[in-house]
Amino acid sequence: MDVLVIGSGGREHALTWALKKDKNIKNIYCAPGNAGTALIAQNINISVDKIDELLKFAREKNIGLTVVGPEVPLVKGIVNVFCDAGLKIFGPDKNAAMLEGSKEFTKKLLKENKIPTAEFEIFNDVEKAKLYIKNNKKYPIVIKADGLAAGKGVMICENESEAIVAIDDIMNKKIFGSAGDRIIIEEFLEGEEASILALTDGNEILLLPPSQDHKRIYDDDKGPNTGGMGAYAPTPLVDNFLINDIKNKILYPTLEGLKKKNIIYKGVLYAGLMITKQGPKVLEYNCRFGDPETQSIVPLIDCSLLDLFIACTEGKIKDSQIKIREDFALNVVIASNGYPGKYEVGKEIFGLEKFKDRQDIIIFHAGTKIENGKVITNGGRVLNFTGIDKDIERTIKKVYDNINEIKFDGAYFRKDIGKRALKYIK
Ligand code: AMP
Ligand code: GLY
Repeated sequence: MDVLVIGSGGREHALTWALKKDKNIKNIYCAPGNAGTALIAQNINISVDKIDELLKFAREKNIGLTVVGPEVPLVKGIVNVFCDAGLKIFGPDKNAAMLEGSKEFTKKLLKENKIPTAEFEIFNDVEKAKLYIKNNKKYPIVIKADGLAAGKGVMICENESEAIVAIDDIMNKKIFGSAGDRIIIEEFLEGEEASILALTDGNEILLLPPSQDHKRIYDDDKGPNTGGMGAYAPTPLVDNFLINDIKNKILYPTLEGLKKKNIIYKGVLYAGLMITKQGPKVLEYNCRFGDPETQSIVPLIDCSLLDLFIACTEGKIKDSQIKIREDFALNVVIASNGYPGKYEVGKEIFGLEKFKDRQDIIIFHAGTKIENGKVITNGGRVLNFTGIDKDIERTIKKVYDNINEIKFDGAYFRKDIGKRALKYIK
């Protein structure tokens, strides 16, 4: 069959790379893709939110399965549109995607089903929100815009004046647009974060290796939040005991809670968790694969991703199995200088060819494109330099011993990806 992958990041390159190995797939198309997907698939110049154009393309090419990378088309209802047209598509429908699209929806669902999460209040009135802050004694406190804000809609406030400024910025100045019509004010959770991704058909789940993202721009988790500067899997932070807790107290109750609302969640369910002293608590849900987590998870999957995706869409996860390599994978994001603020694009990238035949080092492209036969930078997060090895220390060493072979003007990467894992194995 032919497959369409929607998106243009490192996540989509990784998914395309894995699907490419499948003997049952003839052609893979990526819309819009990047310079990495162009090497292994056919890029199609349609942006991810042009649902009608994507549908037209999928119909014309008789696409057997469409795989959706980013949240925007999912929240807009691409899955409903494709299903209504009789086309197979991997991802949650519009109602199910509310788990990411509306924090209010998710927080209420968690509370109704007694799923552990931070205590919270929801406000759509600026003055009431400010009054709540004036009476609050515990800092830091977390203020979140309700809708999609490209991962940036969360502010951690250390005192009352910061919190008041945050409320004004989100609700009056609308720095996140209409996502700021409503805010959630919630308790600050202490602990370490983990990303748990599960394939599901709405009833059963198959867990992917637990992973850990690195959200801040600078080493030692300093500086502003980014889309993610690197990830590794599996993380020793999440042991088998914790996995059971996460399944039984968080993931299954979430699917059951959704079912009570007549929502069957199909696709990948990504729980952003804080592992606190009291156990795992939900920070957020995403309705899609994580980026950059996927670039470290996908190389560890040792079976057909296509079969798993189809099992999700057809409600057959109960009869499916997943095979995971007993290795570690770690990816470091090479970004453009200035990201997550302003940065330049159009810089030629050197050194990629040195790794093209390596099985244990894979470079997943993100913000790249091909111009005049050269690969140039085209975004903030440019490449994911990914290594695979037997243990976490060797994997870290492999990545950092080789990453300097990749060069472009203004290349920046964190030097400490994976370091947090070492304390669990020493
Ligand atoms: P979210 O988009 O809700 O995952 O939030 C983005 C990031 O903000 C998370 O990955 C955490 O690092 C941080 N964060 C969000 N909510 C909380 C919370 N209640 N306590 C502590 N940190 C939080
Ligand atoms: N790694 C964070 C995200 O995909 O939202």
